Amino acid sequence: MTDARDRDRAPLRGLPGLPESPVVNANITEVEADTIVVNLFRGVTAPGGATGAVDEALGGAITELIAGGDISGKLGEVGVLYSGGKVRARRVLIVGLGEQPEFDMESARRASAHAVAKARELGAKEMATIVHGAGIGGFPAAEAAQATLEGALLASYRFGGWRQGAEEGNGLTRITVAEMAEDKLADVEAGARAARAVARGVALARDLVNLPANVVDPQYLVGTAEGMADSTDLELFVGDRAWAEEEGMGAFLAVARGSRNEPAFVQLEHNAGRTDLPLVALVGKGVTFDTGGLSLKTRDGMIPMKSDMAGAAAVLGVMQAVAELDLPVRVLAVCACVENMPDGAAYRPSDVLVAGSGHSIEVLSTDAEGRLALAEALWYVQRFQPAAVIDIATLTGASVVAIGAGVAASLFANDAALRARLETAAKATDEKVWHMPLFDEYRKTIESKVADLKNTGGAQGGVGTSAVFLEPFTDYPWAHVDMAGMAMTDSVKERPYLSHGATGYGVRLFLEFLRDWA
Ligand code: BES
Ligand code: MN
Ligand code: ZN
Repeated sequence: MTDARDRDRAPLRGLPGLPESPVVNANITEVEADTIVVNLFRGVTAPGGATGAVDEALGGAITELIAGGDISGKLGEVGVLYSGGKVRARRVLIVGLGEQPEFDMESARRASAHAVAKARELGAKEMATIVHGAGIGGFPAAEAAQATLEGALLASYRFGGWRQGAEEGNGLTRITVAEMAEDKLADVEAGARAARAVARGVALARDLVNLPANVVDPQYLVGTAEGMADSTDLELFVGDRAWAEEEGMGAFLAVARGSRNEPAFVQLEHNAGRTDLPLVALVGKGVTFDTGGLSLKTRDGMIPMKSDMAGAAAVLGVMQAVAELDLPVRVLAVCACVENMPDGAAYRPSDVLVAGSGHSIEVLSTDAEGRLALAEALWYVQRFQPAAVIDIATLTGASVVAIGAGVAASLFANDAALRARLETAAKATDEKVWHMPLFDEYRKTIESKVADLKNTGGAQGGVGTSAVFLEPFTDYPWAHVDMAGMAMTDSVKERPYLSHGATGYGVRLFLEFLRDWA
């Protein structure tokens, strides 16, 4: 490769890591850090617990802030005090947890993220925090510790990109979780361990989406999976173009034809060969750039399309964490990785393709490429007789039109129990899904005169018509998550643990689902 290409890729080696995050059995007043974080529920005038201990050490300074109306305990509010040597840390942050009856694990994540944002703003390097919500909040210590550290680590994520000097002197190097109660320590450790795995998985997904398509092409995703397989017990298989030809994957290959970048069917398996365990398959759309192909997107419509592999990124992020936590489930990940480009060799509107399943497909729009690639992957996993299959994809602009950007993903399922499990995981993680129908009426819109199916269903109901397109390729309990509109964000106020750019949506949702499944 040319030097210029290597230079383009240079920041890959410099992606900043997450801070280290030890758990210590200590009073927060004694922990080594420049900044410590305690908390306050709204309406509390005389704080107890760890916050009370710090207040006492500071001669009632926190009580005074409350009495003076400087802090109220509102969720997301952060009060700042300087300790003058009365506790070990130089700086004390008091983060609001909101009203106690409304408090949940999402509040803990958000409060913790607000504290990190403030700490970073003040130039903190080493932060220590108590666990939010395990005291008067009443939540189990493991859960509360996970939420606290997860919020903090997710908020610490940064994508330096190519800005010169961006990787220097910006950010926390350590976030210590301080737990005073010895009997809670094991649970706090367990929660912290989960939080680290979650945060690393989400950071991986965010990096993959944030990096542009001149870096993240299908082979880059192969390289990522190789790195994961090298450092974990995950088993890797990569199907290349020739393999897809042998499989007869005419629909997947059609999408690949217009690009010089080789496509790949990336497969990773956790607990491979454990036929005693029911298999869950996760399928991700990995379109590394979606120009629309010959059905070319508009100038502005194309700009965000480096994120069209966010489904695959989420699946890879999940697998990273599944392996790290060694979850007692057998999980197969299949990412259909391909670039959708217009070219002399590109597939055309009106072409008829034959998928591996034998279904013939009339192409009306080369911009409806995601369902072509996904359909092949959904059919492919049938042979493993999965107990459940969930696919995740930035599939339709119509999903964004229906639900809004950054609000929820569209959820389709042919199985009520699977759907319910995903809805439960969505509530726990606040990675929202909204159940949508697989109406018969949608099926009529994709009937073709020359083939078994056509790849678009017309201008209306586009999220539903794309879902029913996928359905014939499934013969197992199946759920489809259309995460278009969820992959990237620029409004982070509502979600303090996100930052501009990739969200990593889906990683936490699927991990929670799998932990509950196990
Ligand atoms: N990747 C897009 C969907 C998308 C659009 C994701 C906007 C995120 C934001 C997908 O491949 C696509 O182009 N879908 C078309 C389907 C249509 C041609 C039937 C769409 O949504 O317009
Ligand atoms: Mn498209
Ligand atoms: Zn697409």
